[in-house]
This record gives sequence, structure tokens and C-alpha cells, in this order.
Amino acid sequence: MSNHELENYFYITTPIYYVNAKPHIGHAYTTLTADVIRRYHQMLGEKTFFLTGTDEHGDKIVDAAKKENMGIREYVNTLSNMFKSLWPELNIHPDYFVRTTDKAHIEVVEGILKKIYDQGDIYYSEYEGLYCFGCERFYMERELVDGKCPDHNRKPEPIKEANYFFRMSRYQEWLIDHIQTHADFIQPKHYANEVLSFLKEPLEDLCISRPKTRLKWGITLPFDANYVTYVWFDALLNYISALGYPDGVYFKTFWPVSEHIIAKDILKPHAIYWPIMLKAAGIDIYKRIHVHGFWNINKSKMSKTLGNVISPMELKEKYGVEAIRYFMMREMAFGLDSDFAEDAIVQRINSDLANDLGNLFSRVLAMTHKFFGGKIPEPDPEAEIEFHLGLTQQAMNTIEIVEQSMEQFQFHRALSAIWDFINHMNKYVDTTSPWVLAKNKTSKRQLETVMYNLLEGLRIISGLIYPVMPKTSKLMQDHLAIDSTEKIHTISWLKSWKMLQTGKKLPKTITLFPRIDVTKLSGQPYPIEEAQQSQTTKPEITFDEFQKMDLRVATVLDAERVPNTQKLLKVTLNMGETRTVVAGIAESYSPSDLIGKQVIVLANLTPVKLRGIVSNGMILAGTNQGKHSIATVEKPIQPGTPLK
Ligand code: MSP
Repeated sequence: MSNHELENYFYITTPIYYVNAKPHIGHAYTTLTADVIRRYHQMLGEKTFFLTGTDEHGDKIVDAAKKENMGIREYVNTLSNMFKSLWPELNIHPDYFVRTTDKAHIEVVEGILKKIYDQGDIYYSEYEGLYCFGCERFYMERELVDGKCPDHNRKPEPIKEANYFFRMSRYQEWLIDHIQTHADFIQPKHYANEVLSFLKEPLEDLCISRPKTRLKWGITLPFDANYVTYVWFDALLNYISALGYPDGVYFKTFWPVSEHIIAKDILKPHAIYWPIMLKAAGIDIYKRIHVHGFWNINKSKMSKTLGNVISPMELKEKYGVEAIRYFMMREMAFGLDSDFAEDAIVQRINSDLANDLGNLFSRVLAMTHKFFGGKIPEPDPEAEIEFHLGLTQQAMNTIEIVEQSMEQFQFHRALSAIWDFINHMNKYVDTTSPWVLAKNKTSKRQLETVMYNLLEGLRIISGLIYPVMPKTSKLMQDHLAIDSTEKIHTISWLKSWKMLQTGKKLPKTITLFPRIDVTKLSGQPYPIEEAQQSQTTKPEITFDEFQKMDLRVATVLDAERVPNTQKLLKVTLNMGETRTVVAGIAESYSPSDLIGKQVIVLANLTPVKLRGIVSNGMILAGTNQGKHSIATVEKPIQPGTPLK
């Protein structure tokens, strides 16, 4: 394919997440950046492919399954589903969700291992080293901080065993040269410098196997059935197995334009092991890698081990998807760490969204209704020059900054430029004072020009925010009477001025973002009275009568909304056997909240058919102020266990 043709393609990936813990906002942030950048490339008119998925082999996963008292397959399916079902909840839409337990992926790993082994780049040797189970790799002394793994803050363990090694050292000079001659290969620049400084010392070869005596849950080496491959050699290949390597048409079109997004924790595997693996396998290396920092809580990385994780679904419920998307993209400077604070979300919503954008939008629309009965007025080019009413220059400058920032994944800078323009427009309203112009018949041309320019400015803002806030973008466009049959408005549509059709009638104005009343968010007293009142007294029953109820513990394997209903979820349960139950809790729980949870089920309730689905039992839950809270067990317990 020619370079010119390739310009029309864009391939973006996230790391595939370990299924040893539920998704948190760190994972959500990376996947969101991928969704945002892909939407932006769609605006550039490109064909895009967006990949995410789950990493399901290795020690950590086996341990996690054991802790949950679940079989390994059942466990990885459940956790993988949690990631998969979370993304649409955040309006994130990957094209493909890859799993390292997929057959197609396993075949690619086997094929590449064999190729590299046959050409002599993999050898067998005894090794003693310091191994971090968190990172699933050996550490060199010089990489440790006070003798500890810097990411997991614990001492790696000495391990001695015979294993297979990948001769990375052979490709060290080639990699240094590639990084030095491709200035944007690793972005932002300080991460490229970090990698280059690491590469100043000789590279140790990479251990790629585990003996099956110690770990069975992996992909068997095609040249030694006593070993499975070690996590990185398996996981990194997802980026090509998902495209149908070697012969798939997606591989041919998208791989040459591949760009990865990761956080700094996995920089070395991605910037050192991965290009060398590709080079050794005779595959072109990826185009760019984009590295972001950590979301911290009080300066510590958010992680399951530290128990300080924030649930994306909780944030969604509290503040809404659009605000969360905006907050994450605006608050973190891509490449640097950011401290997560909930009051910063409220601040961003009230100030940036409700005040700056929301007010501007409703003010301009309300004035259009007041002065012109809601019809888009015709601007007068002469009046624009005479009274210096132009907004075009600022709008075009803004688009240019957005383009440059998006090219460098500097999302916060793009948003800050858009908000500079919003604030410029707010000042423009104040200085041109349309309400004063409206009082004077001789200022009619000025008024029409000012209002038209404001509406055009809003059109451009609606387009520029699309990648980050697609729903708000659409809402704004609907209220600007922009033809919604067009799928995505392109950058070139934004760059053209005077696209709004004069004379078109606009719908009534709306509030884009209501302000958050902080006093209503926290410190709300628990409504004891209501809970007490709702307790109705039921007739006494005997122990025998109680014994008739077959109450059992079940683990939620899957959950999905029942189409065209507000309240119903179809829930698949493991209760020793697999069962389907329809539960009326969709207003309080999204599918991803439930998957993996243990619930209590009344198992011998007469089955009923709800919306065509046979419900075989009932999930127990209480209700408070219209919100459900499901009953669960205090410690994980074998699914199917009866309750007495
Ligand atoms: N399975 C490996 C990746 C293999 S890719 C071939 C892995 N998984 S992970 O579940 O630990 O995910 C790590 C990634 O999750 C980070 O690189 C980042 O994208 C995201 N984040 C996890 N915690 C994060 C923060 N606290 N802050 C920002 N991003 C975070 O490593």
C-alpha cells in the first residue's frame, strides 16, 4: 500500500488488562483516550480500528481465581466480561475485544515462538534472578529502588530455574538507532529519553517461559511441552493476533499505521521487548507509542493492592458519562501523573461545563428565540467589518491548536484551547450586548451579525468537543438545527465558516449541564424513618415453612439489559448449575456492576416468563428511596451453597 493510501488509516490499541481485578478509573482513562483519539481520526475522515481486551494467563490470574473460589475458566470469563461490558457504559466503542485465551491468539503466539526458535533467537538455560510477581518479570539490581520493585513497592523474589530465553541483546543497537532516528516513536519525549538511558547498559536476554510444574495456565511452547510461555511474549502479540496476522486483511491495512497507548508502568515491555520481538519475527514495528502517567490518590498509584481504587461506574452514576469523560481528559496532562480528587470533578462540572459552556449555549439560544422567534438570522458582512464583529479568526486559531494537540495526544491542551474560545465568546456576548442592540432598530444588522456569529461559534464548539463529549456534541447540534443524518462532522466542516442555514428554526433552549449542589452530594442523612415505615408486618411462619424456601448463593456470570425496558436485567447465574433470572434492578445496577458479584437467590420460586424470558428464581434485594441494594454474602462462598 502506498504512503498516501495509508494516511487514511488509523489503528489504536490499549493495553490488554489483567483479569486479576475489576476495572478501575486507571483502566477507564487509557481506554477513554483511545476512544477519544479514534473519534478524532474519524473526524479526519480516516478508516479506524480500535482494539482493547484482556490478558488472562499467568500466576496472578490463577491466584485471583483461587481467592474467589472459582474455576479458572469461569473466573477469566467473568472478569473479562466486566471489562467488556464496562466500555459501552462509558460510551467507549472498541471495534474488537481480544482475549489471550482466544484460539486465534494462541495460534499466533505458537507460530511466532516457533519461527523465532527455529532461527536461533530462543535458547534454553539455567537462570537465577529476582522476580517480581506483580510485573511478571525478572528485575535487574539497578532497576530496583531500595531493593524493591518501584511499581509494587515490594522485594522481588529470588528464583532459580531452567528456562527459555529470547536473545534480545542481539537487537539492542538496532533499537537504539530506531529510537534516535524516529523522533516521535515514543511520546512524550521524556519517555524516549528514559528508554534510551536504560539501553545504555547491555540488555539482558528475556526469560519467556515457565515450567509447567510451577504454572500450567499459559500457552504451551510449541518446541517443549513441559513449558508454557511467559506473560509478555503471550500478551504483546495480541496487537497483531487481533488483526488476523499474518494473512488477514485488517493486518495488512492497519498494522502499518499502528499506535499504542499505555501508562508508564509497562513502558519497557512495550518500548523494548515488543519492537525487538517484531524485528526478530520479521514484522514491521509499530508506528508510535503514547505513554501516559498514573492517576494517583494522595500521591500513591491507584491499585487493587493499595485498596484505593475508584469505580468508573460509581462516578458515572454520580456525575454522568459526559462529565466524567470531560473531567478525565481535561484534568490529566497526558504523560504526567495526576492526583484524583472528587471535588475537582464538581469544580469542572460547575465551572467549565455548567457555567462556561452551558450558560453560553442557553444564553445564545434564548436570545435567538427572543429576538428572532428562534430563526437563524442572516449576517451582514459589511456590518461585521464596520463594527469589528468577527469571530472567524479565533475559531480557526482554536481549530489549529486542537489539531496540533490531538496529533500529540495532548488532550488537555486541546480542551483548554476550546475553553479559551468559549470564554472569548462569553466576553463577546458581554461586549456586543445583543440586548442593547435589540432595543435600537438601527442596530438590526449588527444584532443579526452578532447572533449569527455566536451560533456559528457554537457550531464549531459542538464539533470540537465531539471526541470527548459525543452526546453533548449531538445535543448541541440538534438544537442548532444541524442535519443529524450526517454521521460525524469532519474537521473540514468545522473549518468552513457560515455553514448554519439562515432562516432555519431552532428548537427551544436547554440546560446542557445542571450545576451540582455540593450539599446534596455528601453528608446526606440516611433516611431511617422511610426505611422503618416501609417495614410491613407479615404473619408469623414456622421453621418448617421457612425451610421450604430454597435460598442459595449464586455468582453472576453475565448480565444484560432486557431490550425496551427500564427496569429489567437478564442475569445469568452460577448456582452449581447455570440459571437465568430476570431481575427488576436495572435502574440501580448496570450489568458491569453485577458481573462477578455473589447474590442470594430464592431458587424454588415458580418460574415466570417476563418479556419472553423464563425467569428461574429471584435475586433478593432491598429498596431504599427507589434504589435497590442486593443481598450478598460476607465472604466469597462456593456458588450453589444453600442458606439456612
Ligand atoms: N496485562 C498487562 C498489559 C499487557 S499489554 C500487552 C497489564 N495489565 S494491567 O491490568 O495492569 O493494566 C495496566 C494498564 O492499565 C496501564 O498501563 C494503564 O493503561 C492502566 N492503568 C492501571 N492503573 C492506572 C492508574 N492508576 N493510572 C493510569 N492508568 C492506569 O499491565
